[in-house]
Amino acid sequence: MPEHAPSIVILISGTGSNLQAIVNACAEQAWKARVAAVISNRADAAGLHFAAGRGIACEVLDHREAASREDYDRELARRIDAHAPAAVVLAGFMRLLTPWFVQRYEGRLINVHPSLLPAFAGLHTHRRALEAGVKLHGATVHLVTPEMDAGPIVAQAAVPVLDDDTEASLAERVLEQEHRIYPPAVRALLEGRLKVRGQRVRVLDAAPGEGR
Ligand code: GAR
Repeated sequence: MPEHAPSIVILISGTGSNLQAIVNACAEQAWKARVAAVISNRADAAGLHFAAGRGIACEVLDHREAASREDYDRELARRIDAHAPAAVVLAGFMRLLTPWFVQRYEGRLINVHPSLLPAFAGLHTHRRALEAGVKLHGATVHLVTPEMDAGPIVAQAAVPVLDDDTEASLAERVLEQEHRIYPPAVRALLEGRLKVRGQRVRVLDAAPGEGR
């Protein structure tokens, strides 16, 4: 994809399997966009190896070196803005973001969360789903607003909870669904196909010959 194609910046903290799903979908489906950079707050994030192997610019911005959350987010924004991204994609980026940061990217900031929001916002979603005894769990893609895990919902996928599920087995099936629903949601955002009214998001179909 040429240098001038709309760019995507992906933020990670760990494995980066959602990052991989998005990079692969972008390449295989010939999105009119390119993943310009991956930024991690952890130097040991495995996703960095994958991204570097695909020739994507990788940066580490260690949160432990920032004097405050505000300082961290300002430096993060400076690095993101260097790529003038059309979309900023949170893919397992395990940090709370300041309202300043969220507002700066509002409308182009998207996240995947491992639960059927608004149930189980926050951490340890699979453990909490098992403890609560829910029969359906799942994944949510949402636009990011200053309130954590509460932005307009773009896509969801439900995963039945099985009698013998453990945190790990449930997490694995939820992650499969994240990989299925996140790339098309990112693509729809890039293509201006998300119509937001209040908390409701309508995802318009891709133009004929595009999308799937
Ligand atoms: C995913 O399950 C994602 O939903 C979750 O972290 C995992 C990252 O996996 N994100 C959050 O919990 C954010 N609150 P990955 O690094 O393999 O994409």
